[in-house]
Amino acid sequence: MAFTSSPMGAFLVSFALIAFALPAHAVAADRVELSVDTSKAGAKIDRNIFGQFAEHLGHGVYEGVWVGPDSKIPNTRGMRNDVVAALKALRVPNVRWPGGCFADEYHWRKGIGPADQRVATLNPNWGGVIEPNTFGIHEFMDFLDQIGSEAFLSVNVGSGTPQEAAEWLEYMTTAQPTALAKERVANGHPAPYKVAYLGIGNESWDCGGNMTPDYYLSQLKIYSRFVRNFNPAQQDKQQMLKIAVGPGGGEARWTEWTEVVMKAYEKRQWSWDINGLSLHSYTVGQWPPAFTSVGFGETEYSQFLKHTLAMEALVTRHSAIMDKYDPQKKVALVVDEWGAWYAPLPGSNPGFLVQQNSLRDAILAALNLNIFARHADRVRMANIAQMVNVLQAMIMTDKEKMVLTPTYHVFRMYLPFQDAAFVPVAFDAGTYTHKDIDLPRVDAIAAKDTNGKLWLAIINLDPDQSLEIEANLGGVTAKSAVGETLTAPKVDSVNTFDAPAAVAPKPVSAKVQGGKLALELAPKSVTVVSVEQ
Ligand code: AHR
Repeated sequence: MAFTSSPMGAFLVSFALIAFALPAHAVAADRVELSVDTSKAGAKIDRNIFGQFAEHLGHGVYEGVWVGPDSKIPNTRGMRNDVVAALKALRVPNVRWPGGCFADEYHWRKGIGPADQRVATLNPNWGGVIEPNTFGIHEFMDFLDQIGSEAFLSVNVGSGTPQEAAEWLEYMTTAQPTALAKERVANGHPAPYKVAYLGIGNESWDCGGNMTPDYYLSQLKIYSRFVRNFNPAQQDKQQMLKIAVGPGGGEARWTEWTEVVMKAYEKRQWSWDINGLSLHSYTVGQWPPAFTSVGFGETEYSQFLKHTLAMEALVTRHSAIMDKYDPQKKVALVVDEWGAWYAPLPGSNPGFLVQQNSLRDAILAALNLNIFARHADRVRMANIAQMVNVLQAMIMTDKEKMVLTPTYHVFRMYLPFQDAAFVPVAFDAGTYTHKDIDLPRVDAIAAKDTNGKLWLAIINLDPDQSLEIEANLGGVTAKSAVGETLTAPKVDSVNTFDAPAAVAPKPVSAKVQGGKLALELAPKSVTVVSVEQ
């Protein structure tokens, strides 16, 4: 398992970088000045950083997404309509599936063919429960069609073979009448499927097979070579992008993994290639997870957010290694597992990774999205773990009930940042101190959306003090700013089936005068506004 260790040093480095890189505009303690520099539009914030992860784990897929066509829960071909509608509204760019650790024990053939002939297998990673195989590749692709997303398929390197994976891709993507293609047609899908992203293994250093970097590299070359995409519509520019297993969380030893894969990439021959290197880093605090997702106070709030800020140093460290071997930044750093990992909720199956989702998680999500945006030139894809009912979920369900989590709201508020051009914003973050924990008081990003409109996302981490923001819009003529703010009475406020809107965004607007936007941020809040001319 990989998690963010968040050493004090890493935090200080990232904090110092922010303070050093940005000119100081320190003003009164409860006031922060931001300077937006629209003359320097930066890298595109790839919409793929808003990707999701749906593993066969607990009620993530079964019950969370799939209820089956005969369910009383309203569904379309087995997919619950409420969940599909909620995800569609997020414009989820890609979904990573079927795992996770599950992927390296998954055999795709068990998940095709008539539903009543699918065999039951086991899911040893996650509670040892029955895997009914009723949700297989056809169901996954149908689900993607319904929510309007792209496939990020993780193939089995740990217990599978290159042949099994190659046949899976031939089955899915060829337009020619091979035996495998005919089988796909017989199973109801005449047209080749589009596989946009291919993950070659998962955490091969751990649950994916306990491999050394060199051993994994030899597997990577074989899989990269033989697991081909035949979809005629996807040749040339729109090739399936291949993502290699990369490092785990905070520990320095992981740099060896990045070194080995990237050095080989630099020296690669024509017969293999990668387009992305994965990075897994959970905010967990300690292992096994001991932080609780409910019933906590300011101490746990500030400790946990401090842990999450280690993402900045981690991304910086691995990007620097990648820069050595790939200065043109052709290979993306793909943070394809991130998010909060807490102790399982009491009474839940510990193998199902069930946790609540609070205002703290909304702030944590926004902080990480801001980090990814600041590294937009290298971090071009990320997948929060996980989509429904598992870890830091967007959505929680219980039979026919569904609730949107605070994290969901952040992903929806951040929609304008999908494919927007990063705009530098300078500010003195100040310090919010609780006991011996120092955190930046504020964090902010700015970007111009695909229509040229300027957007700001600003986080007030301080749970007690509101903040006055004065943003210099760098010559952009504007009258007002409008958007939404997300906060709640307590740091551990959550949405429940009985009170689904305890943490919900509220409209916010502010005046712009003399090129300056004045905005008041509530304590412990995430605010996203557009600048209106
Ligand atoms: O997301 C849960 C698990 O965390 C994944 O299966 C695995 O890749 C990681 O360790």
